[in-house]
Amino acid sequence: MSSRSQHSTAGLPPVLPPASECAEWRALSAHRDRMEQRHLRELFDADSGRAERFSLEHGDWFLDYSKNRIDGETLTLLLDLAHARQLPQRMEALFGGERINRSERRAVSHMALRSTPDRPFSIDGEDVSADVESVLSRMSDFARRVRSGDWKGSTGKRIRHVVNIGIGGSDLGPRMAAKALAPYADAGLDVRFVANVDGADLMGALRDLAPEETLFIVCSKTFTTQETMANAMSARAWLVEGLQDESAVSHHFVAVSTQLEKAASFGIPSAQVFGFWDWVGGRYSLTSAVGLSLMLWVGEDSFREMLSGFHSMDEHFRTAPLAENMPVLLGLLGVWYSSFFGCGSHCIVPYSEDLAQFPAYLQQLDMESNGKRVDDAGREVDYPTGPVVFGQTGTNGQHAFFQLLHQGTQWVPCDFIGFSQSHDPLGSHHDILMAHFMAQTRALAFGRSAEELEAQGVDSRLVPHRTFPGNRPSNTLLAPRLTPSALGQLIALYEHRVFVEGAIWGINSFDQWGVELGKSLAESILPDLDGLLDPGSGHDGSTDQLIQRYRGQRRSLPPEEE
Ligand code: F6P
Repeated sequence: MSSRSQHSTAGLPPVLPPASECAEWRALSAHRDRMEQRHLRELFDADSGRAERFSLEHGDWFLDYSKNRIDGETLTLLLDLAHARQLPQRMEALFGGERINRSERRAVSHMALRSTPDRPFSIDGEDVSADVESVLSRMSDFARRVRSGDWKGSTGKRIRHVVNIGIGGSDLGPRMAAKALAPYADAGLDVRFVANVDGADLMGALRDLAPEETLFIVCSKTFTTQETMANAMSARAWLVEGLQDESAVSHHFVAVSTQLEKAASFGIPSAQVFGFWDWVGGRYSLTSAVGLSLMLWVGEDSFREMLSGFHSMDEHFRTAPLAENMPVLLGLLGVWYSSFFGCGSHCIVPYSEDLAQFPAYLQQLDMESNGKRVDDAGREVDYPTGPVVFGQTGTNGQHAFFQLLHQGTQWVPCDFIGFSQSHDPLGSHHDILMAHFMAQTRALAFGRSAEELEAQGVDSRLVPHRTFPGNRPSNTLLAPRLTPSALGQLIALYEHRVFVEGAIWGINSFDQWGVELGKSLAESILPDLDGLLDPGSGHDGSTDQLIQRYRGQRRSLPPEEE
């Protein structure tokens, strides 16, 4: 037994009083009442240097945040709040490897995964750089062997297909990055991702694959996640049946996990298990061995270039003054809209097909991190925290949900992400794409008034329908090109933005207790789905009714489909 009691707070950073009790919070509430009356049109008219003043550059990324409902005073007050909430001290604790994930008593040190020798990371007083590099170089060796054809399947054929089996943080990061960096995939390998326990996912992925040419990566931090384990067992059965060889498993399966013994008991030789550590949260794990599928896809050099991109943004976040710090500014703006204007959602629109999975990735990063209703001390907060994050690529989203963004009764802060160069130049396609990128933020901010429409002679009955109120905020992020480094910078930007918001709100952005209840209820329901039809079995009335109906319909299927 540990000498510390479970509830001891020894060694943990201090818990602050609720955010809404500080004078800086109250000052912002009063300021919000004033800013609510001001329109972006008026703010731009009053200040010809506004765009330049509210823009910032780091690495590949240019951030124009001038189309936000802020003025100079807003920023001053938000920065005052950041100091009152001890943001600099919190950042120091983060980078110092302190156990800021209080409820799980863990450090949060994903930045150590992409650091450089001049920036060693210590966790509990121990430098972890050598461990990190050792896993990275094992990944690199393995990737080299598979990509070159040196690694053979059990029948002596080279591997042509890689299937990553994982869910949540063990899926969304590599899946998103593999799509984003597809132009850098250069080894003729095909990489697929299976996450859903719905058999359609695995069966769909395996349909056209030959077992002798397929490598599976079972990717699970805990190696207990039901969906991943079910998919891994079915993939194993598919392989053994296809090759008629139980021993083929060791040639066709590798694992990524913090639980090395559990991976070994699945039958994966320890030399083929790539480890990581409990100080890497699932949704922050792309730069750990969880990125193995990505490294197989794009190779070690591109993977390492992505790591340097991450590191560059980590260093910017760690060292830049708060007022010139991109993640800090984006985080403060997030707090401004969620907590002071009550905006319940935040929209992400990448104008890049390669970033199609980015909104889904950010959904987990942001909502699993900041979807919390109690603060670090377990007190219920009296202000809104993390928003619903959603999004879609531009221009597709324009033809789906932008109507609401422009004319709906609620306004939704948006991030627009774009690139000046395309990996797939095709006539004027990229210019058309980027014209929309710029037009949308302009339409959101400035709208179209009734007076303008009337001056154009628009039928007065249509004027209300065709009026755009504007004053709807957005950030614009522009980079030259979606390179591995630019991608790393972008992801780290959002990781740290989430941290900043959580620090201001005083919540723990690094646990995820909210996923537990559903998991355990599913465990208690599962045996009843397969049982004999009998009256209610102790769940609630609705669940019992659904179970009965499901069983009845399941049993009425023709036997071959059961
Ligand atoms: O959805 C909950 C969660 O624990 C995520 O935080 C995590 O990324 C995912 O499940 C997968 O977990 P694991 O990598 O342990 O299989």
